Amino acid sequence: MSEVTISVNGRNVTRTVEDRTLLVHFLREHVGLTGTHVGCDTSQCGACVVHVDGKAVKSCTMLAAQASGSTVVTIEGLANGAELHPVQAAFKEHHGLQCGFCTPGMIMAATDMIRRYPDGLDEATVRAELEGNICRCTGYHNIVKAILAASKAMAKGGKKSAKAA
Ligand code: FES
Ligand code: FES
Repeated sequence: MSEVTISVNGRNVTRTVEDRTLLVHFLREHVGLTGTHVGCDTSQCGACVVHVDGKAVKSCTMLAAQASGSTVVTIEGLANGAELHPVQAAFKEHHGLQCGFCTPGMIMAATDMIRRYPDGLDEATVRAELEGNICRCTGYHNIVKAILAASKAMAKGGKKSAKAA
């Protein structure tokens, strides 16, 4: 067993867990944050993406013990109270989801992607960057549209709206 302390969405949480506990299971089962999903057991789907120290990570590929001392942000930590994060707002505006299962991972991957391309994104880059995130519903078109809109809105400093197409 290991004692693991992680800052999750701005709150320090300490749990004693089995050494083999994956970060995704730590978040879901030990912290109760079930917005981070598990969609595969092969590290392919991306439904489990969270931010670890500011970078998108598939939380099924990391042990909770490895993340001890780190800062983790999950989909639950993205909105500012009732105000959606611009990427969340853009997914809503552009219908970037259907069943919603892939959406938390898509949004966490997208926010990291937008951070890494501060000068803006084009469609080909977004599609290439989404290689690690699988959606079985949407055909990706509206997801790409939403990410491009969010990227534009955030480049303008527009924290409130991501409606621009
Ligand atoms: S659960 Fe599918 S990549 Fe992590
Ligand atoms: S919206 Fe259903 S898996 Fe993507």
